[in-house]
Amino acid sequence: MRHFLTLADLSTEEILYLLELARDLRSEWRLGGNRPLLAGKCLAMIFQKPSLRTRVSFERAMHHLGGLAMYLSPQEIRLGERESVADVARVLSRYVDAIMARVFAHAHIEELAANATVPVINGLSDKFHPCQALADFFTIWDRFGALRGINLAYVGDGNNVAHSLLIGAAKLGVNIAVATPPGYEPAPDVVALARASAQATGATVQLLHSPQEAVRGANVVYTDVWASMGQEAEAEERRKVFAPYQVNQALVSLAKPDAIVMHCLPAHRGEEITDEVIDGPQSAVYDQAENRLHAQKALLVWLCAQCR
Ligand code: CP
Ligand code: NVA
Repeated sequence: MRHFLTLADLSTEEILYLLELARDLRSEWRLGGNRPLLAGKCLAMIFQKPSLRTRVSFERAMHHLGGLAMYLSPQEIRLGERESVADVARVLSRYVDAIMARVFAHAHIEELAANATVPVINGLSDKFHPCQALADFFTIWDRFGALRGINLAYVGDGNNVAHSLLIGAAKLGVNIAVATPPGYEPAPDVVALARASAQATGATVQLLHSPQEAVRGANVVYTDVWASMGQEAEAEERRKVFAPYQVNQALVSLAKPDAIVMHCLPAHRGEEITDEVIDGPQSAVYDQAENRLHAQKALLVWLCAQCR
């Protein structure tokens, strides 16, 4: 049974296959066609945290593919509280063809996968956000017509989004430079995993503290919120620490002239990114958000090919 808990679960060839499938599905959809590739199939969506993009894009993706998506709110499931994570996985596997879950502890998504008899998709955990990264590399490939040799600068917190970008970049031959304040670097095990993958593709993986150094010569400048969901109590302190890491026009001007700016959203405008940049001509953020839909359709079709 294949799951999608991190991009490390897929080979480089499998990721590239998904990007091509996403492009085909997007072209068909833009011409007004839906492909009922998942007719009669059902996706259960467990949420322990809020969501706009993940919930709506997965629900719409299943609809485009002729299937059904079922939203299960934090109050309904109370994963690991009302009943064990393993029992939730076992019971849902009797009803549905795939499970997507947004959780706090990454161990919970691993436990779901270990006990489910249907594919499990990580819709964000405290450690990874692979659906976002899949859509992000689709967006970069779409804009530049290539991935290998592209320079991606990530500026901000070494969080779940940074982790998934590190793994994906290394696997796809994208050079990645991550600039964080000291003490907010990506997790060492993720960096080690990325560096191991990078050996095969020739990608460079750099950890820096200078946003200017990271961005110089970049094709893509990427940022995310300074305090992720679950870190609200640290928001005030983080606003001070991260202030020099704001993606503003002065920083973006150090990147290549045709560089694009990315953000997974939701954005805290005026904090990690300025209005001028997110609303400016170099911003790719709304294409990025749309591409969640197409990348996830490809993922669902690929994973459900193993469904009964
Ligand atoms: N980027 C993203 O995952 O957005 P949501 O939190 O709204 O799903
Ligand atoms: N790092 C952010 C991403 C939101 C999509 C968070 O986890 O809240």
